[in-house]
Amino acid sequence: MHTTVSEINSVEDAATRAVTDSVFSPRFYTTDYKAMDALNIEPVRADWDAMMAEYEGDNNHDHFQRDASFADEARELTAKMSPELRQEFLDFLVSSLTSEFSGCVLYNEIKRNIDNPDIKQLMAYMARDESRHAGFINSSLKDFGLGIDLGDLKRKKHYTYFKPKYIFYATYLSEKIGYARYIRIFRQLEKYPEKRFHPIFRWFQRWCNDEFRHGESFALIMRANPKLLEGPNRLWIRFFLLAVYATMYVRDHTRPELKQAMGLAPTEYDFEVFRITNEITKQVFPILLDIDHPAFHANLDRLFYCSQRVDEGKAAGGLGGVLRRAFWSVAGVAVFARMFFIPVKENVLPKSARLAPTW
Ligand SMILES: [Fe+2]
Ligand SMILES: [Fe+2]
Repeated sequence: MHTTVSEINSVEDAATRAVTDSVFSPRFYTTDYKAMDALNIEPVRADWDAMMAEYEGDNNHDHFQRDASFADEARELTAKMSPELRQEFLDFLVSSLTSEFSGCVLYNEIKRNIDNPDIKQLMAYMARDESRHAGFINSSLKDFGLGIDLGDLKRKKHYTYFKPKYIFYATYLSEKIGYARYIRIFRQLEKYPEKRFHPIFRWFQRWCNDEFRHGESFALIMRANPKLLEGPNRLWIRFFLLAVYATMYVRDHTRPELKQAMGLAPTEYDFEVFRITNEITKQVFPILLDIDHPAFHANLDRLFYCSQRVDEGKAAGGLGGVLRRAFWSVAGVAVFARMFFIPVKENVLPKSARLAPTW
């Protein structure tokens, strides 16, 4: 299948891909540290303390080390990859690294800038985890001779300011959808080990339990501050749900080889991930997207269509390219706006927010 992702062939390409912001690439964030400092988690104290004990226990402390066979297996399997798969896999590694490192930087910055002992401790634990995740991905990029200088990325990347509540909605969702994506891949490759085209996927199960717990932390923060889940904020939740789901759909369809190599069809995979994520978000969000509404799927396909036309405009260049790009960008925004008005489902929050990663 044709792929519109540009190629990564050198360390410079990899670094440029990581640092460049596009509508669908992972971003870096800053926020209002004073407001973070003022957060109160007393209403969920018992759940909070139990969760902090889990972080302290650190059951993944020895997980992010490569075993003896890793490098050999990686070399052997990489030699068998088609050029298309190799490119999509590299893009996957760079964008995953960027998003892991984005969490690491944000959590570290919050920790450095606040005194609130609960939030400070949480941020320290999450930054610890994300730094391991980012480092682990980077060692696989280094196998390709494409390691990314994280200090450089931290300095050069543009930072987007998000109010704390946007950080909570977006980060909660990206942690939970990250869990759903990784566990779905892990389960598939557990069933079909011959389709595991790189050893890194063997690490995904315990890895995504970290992401699940990070998501739990934001769920508790929001449940402790129920105003974040009421009134006009319901519209923000709707917006972030849609933005996160749509971004994933477009990205996954832009690199179909990756899922196909695992024996997964991108559309089915994405809808399974939506289903798991919807199920999990019942712990905190008062509304759920109606992913079974026929207009939901149809508009995701339209969105992907628009994004491909934008990419073609970009590739064509010149005035024609610019105009094409502008036209299809506006069309994409219109599709997104239409999706915003697909009716949502109401959700009654359970008494306790805590969930276990049982997928
Ligand atoms: Fe992570
Ligand atoms: Fe995480």
